[in-house]
Amino acid sequence: MSLKLAAGAAAVALSVFAAGGAGAWTIGFSQVGSEGDWRPAFSANMQETAKDYDVDLKFANAQGKQEEQLRAVRAFIAQGVDAIIIAPVVVTGWDQVLQEAKDAEIPVFLVDRDVDVQDKSLYVTRISADFNLEGRLAGAWLAAASKGDCKIVELQGTTGSAPAIERKKGFEAVIGEFPAMEIVATQSGDFTTEGGKKVMEAFIKSTNNLEGICASFAHNDNMQLGAIQAMKEAGLNPGKDVLMVSVDYVPAIKDKLANCEANASVELRSAVGQYIYPVVVDYLKEPHELDKWIVIPSDLHTANCTSS
Ligand code: AHR
Repeated sequence: MSLKLAAGAAAVALSVFAAGGAGAWTIGFSQVGSEGDWRPAFSANMQETAKDYDVDLKFANAQGKQEEQLRAVRAFIAQGVDAIIIAPVVVTGWDQVLQEAKDAEIPVFLVDRDVDVQDKSLYVTRISADFNLEGRLAGAWLAAASKGDCKIVELQGTTGSAPAIERKKGFEAVIGEFPAMEIVATQSGDFTTEGGKKVMEAFIKSTNNLEGICASFAHNDNMQLGAIQAMKEAGLNPGKDVLMVSVDYVPAIKDKLANCEANASVELRSAVGQYIYPVVVDYLKEPHELDKWIVIPSDLHTANCTSS
């Protein structure tokens, strides 16, 4: 073997070793928690598809607590992982820990939810759906279904989280175009079925059994499922007396769409390892500038019984 070839082979061997041993990349993933049906499906997909991309995934479930996420990210930094993926619970409070990752030269990728930081160089990119578009799709569907005349109750997601902020903004931007469309009551159900049920029970009381209410907009399906339960217990007919529109398109809401207890759901894809890992792994192989947001498409699904 010539000297040049030998040097080339050594360089290849070194780069394979630098890739994390046996070609694997060690990546820490700090996940929000396991609320609702969508998030566990997302977590499972990330864990199941990691091996397809030669990734050794260190998974940390923060149980909905930002302090837990900060702890997990610091532990990943101490372990010297190749990259860190974060699905942030809320948008604020990230500057310091992201700076620590940057100082340790560990690239950070945001998935699903966004952060609100001054210095965008603290993370490489965000790979996620467009929550604002999801809100606009829900609002546009409702505007058409109600012919632009609708009093709405809104079940908000976790306060301070990107999907709660952006879905609300997007929805309001569309219904704001229709003078007879209005949100008359709004409250957080924290993205859970129990939260949604409690919030809808409160709305039922405060509006005299949803009198004059034309629709329920929930920032996720699980809250809508809780709302449906509360309405049925109060003798109301969700999907018929009140239009039901939400986000995620989880299997349980598909059943409700099929039996006309729900009317529309905007799909938030949960099988997103195929979008996330190639971006992260390509970057690790050869760091390069990326757009700050790589968007995963969203689709609207409706039931065939909206006007019954
Ligand atoms: O961040 C996405 C949202 O978080 C999902 O719509 C919701 O189900 C989850 O809790």
